[in-house]
Amino acid sequence: MKLLLNVLKRIHKPAVYTSQHRCLSSSASSGLLPLRDEALIVGSNPELVHRIGSQVEVRTGFITEEEEGAFLQELEQGLKKKRYEFDHWDDAIHGYRETERVRWGERCEEVLSRVRSVAFPEGGPLLGPVHILDLDKTGYIKPHIDSVKFCGSTIAGLSLLSDSIMRLVKEDAADEWLDLLLPRLSLYILRDQARYKFTHQILKDEESVFNGQKVPRLRRISVICRNLPG
Ligand code: OGA
Ligand code: MN
Repeated sequence: MKLLLNVLKRIHKPAVYTSQHRCLSSSASSGLLPLRDEALIVGSNPELVHRIGSQVEVRTGFITEEEEGAFLQELEQGLKKKRYEFDHWDDAIHGYRETERVRWGERCEEVLSRVRSVAFPEGGPLLGPVHILDLDKTGYIKPHIDSVKFCGSTIAGLSLLSDSIMRLVKEDAADEWLDLLLPRLSLYILRDQARYKFTHQILKDEESVFNGQKVPRLRRISVICRNLPG
């Protein structure tokens, strides 16, 4: 347990910091992914949205409020014992507490197998413990790339309690970016280049504007499944 938390800590070490000074109104001219849930992905240009958008999925309403409740019921007691961490200068995450879990009750297990079946190739090795990240209302995740040593090509996360915006920025080209609107109860999946070549971050409340629209960021819990490096 302890060891794994250390591993997760290292996952969160920012491999890359990207400073961006883009004007939000510039997203008005951005491409929209011309597929289902098109409004959930915008980016710096249509070609990028098309190319990288195919390695990103946001599925709205992937879980029900009842299923969200089942997760909260399983998780809240353990989380409440921890304090939100704010002041680790080298951490990729600000204002968070986290845990991980291998064994789940039936309702949650059912949801997690649904996540696994849509997100990961059948039979591929998964990271055993599911990672739970509880962001305070003032919390946020800075740009980082998950450790390639510990995690494989796919990252899938459920969003509980709050909508949020995940921003992907090309590691070596800060003007190439995608914003994903992650509604509460949705599932997102990052694959391949979207996972390896782009940093991802969860915006703080003050910056949480999607395509010109304010998206209030409340306390947010994510339930994240990962696979192992192949
Ligand atoms: C992480 C991460 C995203 C999320 O923990 O590495 O990027 O949805 N989390 O919480
Ligand atoms: Mn990450």
